[in-house]
Amino acid sequence: MRIVVTGGAGFIGSNFIRYMLKRYPDYTLINYDKLTYAGNLDNLREVEHLPNYRFIQGDIADAGQVEQTLASCKADAIVHFAAESHVDRSIMEPDQFIRTNVVGTHRLLEAARKQGIARFIHISTDEVYGSLGAEGFFTEQTPLAPNSPYSASKASSDLLVQAYHHTYGLPVCITRCSNNYGPYHFPEKLIPLMITNALEGQPLPVYGDGLHVRDWLHVEDHAAAIDLVLHDGRAGEVYNVGGNNERTNLEVVQAILSQLSLPISSIRYVADRQGHDRRYAIDASKLRSELGWRPKYAFDEGLAETIAWYRTHTAWWQRVKDGTYRHYYELQYGSNQGAI
Ligand code: NAD
Ligand code: TYD
Repeated sequence: MRIVVTGGAGFIGSNFIRYMLKRYPDYTLINYDKLTYAGNLDNLREVEHLPNYRFIQGDIADAGQVEQTLASCKADAIVHFAAESHVDRSIMEPDQFIRTNVVGTHRLLEAARKQGIARFIHISTDEVYGSLGAEGFFTEQTPLAPNSPYSASKASSDLLVQAYHHTYGLPVCITRCSNNYGPYHFPEKLIPLMITNALEGQPLPVYGDGLHVRDWLHVEDHAAAIDLVLHDGRAGEVYNVGGNNERTNLEVVQAILSQLSLPISSIRYVADRQGHDRRYAIDASKLRSELGWRPKYAFDEGLAETIAWYRTHTAWWQRVKDGTYRHYYELQYGSNQGAI
């Protein structure tokens, strides 16, 4: 199989490429990525020498380049990860989220339709469902009710993907996963930010009361789920992916501090995120019963391995936390470091 992976230099995309090349040594993976601040070819050093891996630098919103790439690659499938992915950045500056997540996805769908692509897997998020109260889970039937510019842009792209299936018969599947964690996670997101700040002796900024709940999924379990959907998912269907690991943010941060033998006083309660979703929790029973997906990682074990990975890959995250990252950090946290 020849697979074009968009956004393959990011966190989940690079983990997916490594997973697939290991599992299917006869497949060809073509990574099409713009290399924004979140794209990093260091994530792919292990596989860059392989003859069945290729990198093309390009923007999904560039219709001409997308069409040319699909035509020349003769791909059987597209797995579409490329996106602006960070909620806080979408609150600061939403424009790029609309351009990449909405317009870019549309350009890709259009090129896939013209090219007659046999599989189009769109990687979405549970955030399109909005926020839950204390009880209940998101199922595939939960109405879309996104709250942030990020989740609204992802929900818009989901609707375009579904419209291309309904109107043109494009063989699409949509996956909606909960919060991922694991190696090569960009340290703007909760878990890698907290681990790397802790390792640097910096304060750990927790938004609001820290009682917001996320449902954590190891990135390798996510890659295995996408593999199943790619091969056996039914066209036109949505599959939720979640690890049944609900934790409050405070529980996650306390677990990180405890594993690093650091005091709770390292936490800084800072002002809450605007429009902060209170709770996400995924019902993944469709993926389990239809496609036999079983997550491998218990959260505590996965978190311990992830902390160990950051401890042994200091050069990777120190390079990432340099330059433009510092500018972002200052904008996001600069005047927001004190207790509220
Ligand atoms: P990431 O920010 O780590 O990586 C995004 C990648 O897309 C980067 O390599 C970047 O260079 C590339 N990219 C951005 N704009 C592009 C463009 N215009 N053209 C081509 N490439 C472009 O993101 P991630 O965490 O790996 O997320 C991947 C996908 O999974 C996204 O679609 C995201 O919405 C979804 N998702 C992520 C999570 C999570 O917990 N990280 C959870 C649910 C869903
Ligand atoms: P994040 O990793 O940004 O993922 P998402 O917002 O897409 O779920 O944030 C996870 C949770 O952690 C979310 O409730 C916001 C919170 N958070 C903090 O408390 N402090 C931080 O510095 C960050 C980045 C997130």
